[in-house]
Amino acid sequence: MKQEMIIVLDFGGQYNQLIARRVRECNVYCEVHPYTLELEKIREMQPKGIIFTGGPNSVYLEDSPHIDPDIFKMNIPILGICYGSQLIAHTLGGQVATAPVSEYGKTEVSVDRSSILFGNVEPATTCWMSHTDYIAKVPEGFRITAYTAVCPVAAMECLKQKVFATQFHPEVLHTVEGTKMLRSFVYDVCGCSGNWKMDSFVSLAIQSLREKIGTGKVLCALSGGVDSSVAAVLLSKAVGKQLTCVFVDHGLLRKNEGDEVEAVFGPDGPYELNFIRVNAQERFYGKLAGVEEPEEKRKIIGAEFIRVFEEEAKKIGAVDFLVQGTIYPDVIESGLGKSAVIKSHHNVGGLPECVDFKEILEPLRLLFKDEVRKAGLELGIPEYLVFRQPFPGPGLGIRIVGEVTAEKVKMVQEADFIYRDEIRKSGIDMKLGQYFAALTNMRSVGVMGDFRTYDYAVVLRAVETSDFMTAEAAQVPWDVLQKVMNRIVNEVKGVNRVFYDLTSKPPGTIEFE
Ligand code: XMP
Repeated sequence: MKQEMIIVLDFGGQYNQLIARRVRECNVYCEVHPYTLELEKIREMQPKGIIFTGGPNSVYLEDSPHIDPDIFKMNIPILGICYGSQLIAHTLGGQVATAPVSEYGKTEVSVDRSSILFGNVEPATTCWMSHTDYIAKVPEGFRITAYTAVCPVAAMECLKQKVFATQFHPEVLHTVEGTKMLRSFVYDVCGCSGNWKMDSFVSLAIQSLREKIGTGKVLCALSGGVDSSVAAVLLSKAVGKQLTCVFVDHGLLRKNEGDEVEAVFGPDGPYELNFIRVNAQERFYGKLAGVEEPEEKRKIIGAEFIRVFEEEAKKIGAVDFLVQGTIYPDVIESGLGKSAVIKSHHNVGGLPECVDFKEILEPLRLLFKDEVRKAGLELGIPEYLVFRQPFPGPGLGIRIVGEVTAEKVKMVQEADFIYRDEIRKSGIDMKLGQYFAALTNMRSVGVMGDFRTYDYAVVLRAVETSDFMTAEAAQVPWDVLQKVMNRIVNEVKGVNRVFYDLTSKPPGTIEFE
């Protein structure tokens, strides 16, 4: 049976992938394509419906993105959002003009509940608006189905042609009943049955990777983080032994992490991968000796990583494809007819330059983090790997203030292990965005038993954040902090003091480097 699909045509709006994600949440497969996608291609894809996104332009200007009017003759239901709604009005003979009053933010919208889109939403519902143009006159055959105090056409439709348009953004969570509206579009207008689940993504991705790779060789830099792990397993299911995963243990991983990664992906794990673990600890410590400046440490670690990786790639020889675990938030630019710019995976500190690859594969580039996690679970990756916290590519190298040494790595690994263990036991781990221990370069006097100590101070950090761009220090219960402090000073040799970092971001950063 052919997979039901909705196509999102991207006119440069900020929320293009969010629309796709909301549709996928309704169990209908959805892909974003540039608005320049030819009608012939669309016909071949046989979508059940098409959604036009928003965009920053004014439809009445010549240079703005337009659409072939024949798209409306294809007998495929269409929903236009924001710019997309204006484009429908403009293309079909209505009128779009600068609105006398722009609307931005949460707005109360009055909807006509006889519309198929709004049958089960409140008559006055809060929606997210962001527009300076508006539909001044609807095209012939259309009727107005929603309005606001200042926007006479907040939604319109032509049921006969199955063309719908909303000036507001149903995909944004501030549109309280937006998902219901999208659901009505995909189910009641487009007639989807909702047979798509994350396992369908997994099987579709495997199928298309097989077609693309053929008998070629594939290389993956595996960090043990969620994204590269999911990408590696997906690839291994697709092409088995044609894939080689290189895992560079730079000696700056969390306690036991190297062995955990090897247990899952190595020869004794459930996946039959060609897995190469490079134990490069000494090499990295050597390069980092005497270096204190954080940016310099980052550069050294990144460059050394690439060197090790290249050496391994050369040993394998003639690799056709390099896999990257890029996910949607990593994609810097997309749409408007241009293919997305590939971001060098910040976990591996950039792409190798002197290794020849025919192509880069990014099988997760359409997914959001939580979708990647779902795909990981579908692929049978253990939960503790799937729900791992973000961990910087340069690892503990930047969680040790000042010079990195093997002894200091051991201290921070032990302290961090205790901290994470106690946080997990206290049950607050799922509420925290990120939490870890770092090692300061401050030593101070203490007393242990009858002896004077002169040891290092550990800092505990825990933040609440949703986007990692801003963060607040989390209120970890005092008794948990005290228990952690007790264990650290007792169990970690070389540490005699523990601090808790109260700094938000900004002005601080999440990492402590
Ligand atoms: P900052 O410290 O900049 O961190 O507030 C924001 C988020 O990014 C993570 N981070 C990194 N992730 N490579 C990565 O893959 C890096 O070099 C890197 N530096 C910071 C950090 O852990 C936090 O989640």
